[in-house]
Parts: sequence; C-alpha cells; structure tokens
Amino acid sequence: MKQINVGIIGFGTVGAGTFEVLTTNREIITNRVGARVVVRKIADLDIETDRGIPEKPGAEIMTTDAMDVISDPEIHVVVELMGGLEKAREFILKAMEQGKHVVTANKALLAEFGREIYQAAERCGVSLAFEASVGGGIPIIGALKTGLSGNRIQTCMGILNGTSNYILTQMTRENLPFESAVADAVALGFAEDPPTLDVDGTDAAHKLAIMISIAFGSAIDFDQVFREGIVGITPDDIRFAQEFGYHIKLLAIAKDLGEQLEARVHPVMIPKNHILANVHDAFNAIFLEGDFVGPTLYYGLGAGRKPTGSAVVSDIISLARDMVMEKRGMMPPLAHVRPPEKAVSIQPMDELMTSYYFRVSALDTPGVLSTISGILAQNGISISSVIQKGRDQKGSVPIVMLTHEARESQVQRAIHLIDNLDVVTDKTVVIRVEGND
Ligand code: HSE
Repeated sequence: MKQINVGIIGFGTVGAGTFEVLTTNREIITNRVGARVVVRKIADLDIETDRGIPEKPGAEIMTTDAMDVISDPEIHVVVELMGGLEKAREFILKAMEQGKHVVTANKALLAEFGREIYQAAERCGVSLAFEASVGGGIPIIGALKTGLSGNRIQTCMGILNGTSNYILTQMTRENLPFESAVADAVALGFAEDPPTLDVDGTDAAHKLAIMISIAFGSAIDFDQVFREGIVGITPDDIRFAQEFGYHIKLLAIAKDLGEQLEARVHPVMIPKNHILANVHDAFNAIFLEGDFVGPTLYYGLGAGRKPTGSAVVSDIISLARDMVMEKRGMMPPLAHVRPPEKAVSIQPMDELMTSYYFRVSALDTPGVLSTISGILAQNGISISSVIQKGRDQKGSVPIVMLTHEARESQVQRAIHLIDNLDVVTDKTVVIRVEGND
C-alpha cells in the first residue's frame, strides 16, 4: 500500500488536534485515501510539553528545526500550524520550492500575504489548501470551492469569531459589561489574554477576505475590508437592541452589488428571529447565498483542537487522494483555473446604505431632541423609532433611535455634529442594522 508522508510545523493546539485526528481515525482515513497517511516529522520549539492527546508522537519524529520537515525528501505534504506572519511565510514558500504540497490554517498570513503565496503555489506546481483558516471545523472553504461552484455568490455573511460571539452572548445573558465578559472568556480558555485581534474585528476580517478571494477568484487588499470591533458595546446597547427586537452580533459581511462588493466587519443589530441572531456562545455560522442555490447556512465550532484538527485533516486527505489517484491537475488555491480578468472592487465604506441605531447621551433639557433630529434631517437621515429613558447619575439621558436606510458618509457627518453639541455628554454609539430584508 502507498504511503503519504506528512510533516507538521507547529505542535500547539491545532497541531496536536491534527495528529489526534490522523491517529484516532487512521483506518477510516486509509480507506478514504487508499494509502496510509503517516506523520513523519513534527517541528516545534517546544517538544517536551504533553499536549494531552491519547496517542503521543514518538520522540524520534519530533524536532525543533522546521527545516528538518521542509527538506525531508520523503515528506509529501507540509502542514504549517505555527501561526504568525514572517516565519510562517518563509517556511511555506521554502516548502513549496521543495515541491511540497502545503496545508495551512494561517488566516492572517493568507489574508495579508495571500497573493504571493497563491502565486508561489502555482509557480511551483503544488497544492495549497486552507480549510481550517475560516470557521474552524465548518467546511466552508469546501462549500465555496466545490459545493456552490455553479453559483454567483451574492451574499456571504457570518459570525466568524467565536471569542467575540462568546463575549456578546455573556453580555446579553448575564447583563455583564464588556470587560467582565472578556475576563470570563479568558478564564474559561475561550480567549487569548488580551484577545485584541478577536474583539477588534481583525480576525473576522481575515476570514472574510479569504472567503471573498475564493468566491470572486482574486486576492483582495486586506486593508480594504472595513473593520470595527465590539469594544464600544455596552449592556445598555444590548438592552435597547432587545427592546427594538434585535440582538447584537459581530458580523462579517460581503455582498455582491454588481460593479462593487461590500466587505465589512462590525457589530450589527440583527432581528431576533434571524437565523444568525440565534448563534450563541463560541459557535460560528456562515450564511451564503448563491444565485441558483438560494440561501444556505453552515454552523459549527470555529476553533478548538478537535474541530480545527478535523478541518486540517480534510485538506491532508484531499491532497493525499489527488496524489494516490495521480491527478495531473491540482485545484488552484482560489479554485479558479482562469482567474477573472477584472479583479473585485470593494465599495468604499462611506457609500454604504443601511439602517442605523444611535445612542446619544445628552442632557435632559428642553429642545435637545429637536436639535438632534434637526441635524439628522439636514443630513438626509430619517428616524424610524425613538426611545428616551430616565436620567442617569450624571444628569444625562440616553436618546436611542433607529433610522431608515441612510448613507454612511451622511451618518458620520451627522454624528460628528451631534457629538459637538454642548448638551451631548459622551460619544454617540452607532450600530449598523442588518437582516431587516
Ligand atoms: N480566535 C478565533 C476565534 C479562533 O475566536 O474564533 C481561531 O480562528
């Protein structure tokens, strides 16, 4: 029987999960591939710590030098699970130059340096697979590359960061301030300490950029993805959102507008009965809409040793199958054998049209509401509902509004004017509304 040899660089949570899947499901995988898939080497700076997996790798396959993996002529597939940018980039490029197929879970690297890596894979004639980079165990890359490949993707919208979703869920259920929910998430191991890239929207934006690249066949400039995190969300906003019939979620959104594409990550208010409003805790969910298939939904764990190991192994299996079947052509990294002539163009955020929630903190004096609504009217913003509550200790009151559809640039202008009023005591909270259609 043939044997496909794998080398793993990075033996942290995901590396250990990958090894665990490969060893636990050895027989199933052998049958699916038609060959044995064997881990021949594992490189990590720390080769002592027990990773808590049932079958431990033998000491003879462990090394502290990634080059032992990359330059081993017997290894067919290099699996990069170390994370980080510069070293991971260097190792992946070197592995490809050695003719190795590469599997990676490195979303930051693909979102920020994807173009170079995709081109290197094609130049070297090797495969590059990255199912684990988006949505952990959810096979969303496979859905985009194959399952929905007959469709023009019209909407791609998802909860792509489990840490933020866990924090927002705790804030909603327990009425906790952001900082306490973060502390909880860190204590329970759901979040890094501090979880900066999770809560500021960067992690979800990395994942969105990867999905857009596959859906539209060209890598996009990561900086064009608008991102705003959940740091400014308060329990008050969550309560007001509920009064209006919404939940607050951090969503990654891409919408095909024809000539341009919306690409944005930010907190949204989403109707309570929307399917994505009901994705709680550390779960991820992605809603994809295609012109023929209509709406589809993918749900599961977006992180963790086992789910992410499952995704990495799915890539190893499909590369191994190709090798066993001696396929001549490999799936290009972005699943477009002929990339589109026109690269995708991202709509500037200023041009976004959507509805908004505002929470203005203002002194409770006569005429405040009419001054604020006057500014909104001058900027073409029409209010659909208002709630005003009693005074807080500082003598200011929250004035909470929902608007009809308005343009982002006009909203930003109006909020700037409102925040400069003497009667306004704090920065206005602005949350975009999604899913009303
Ligand atoms: N930090 C990510 C999350 C998991 O919280 O969803 C890895 O992509």
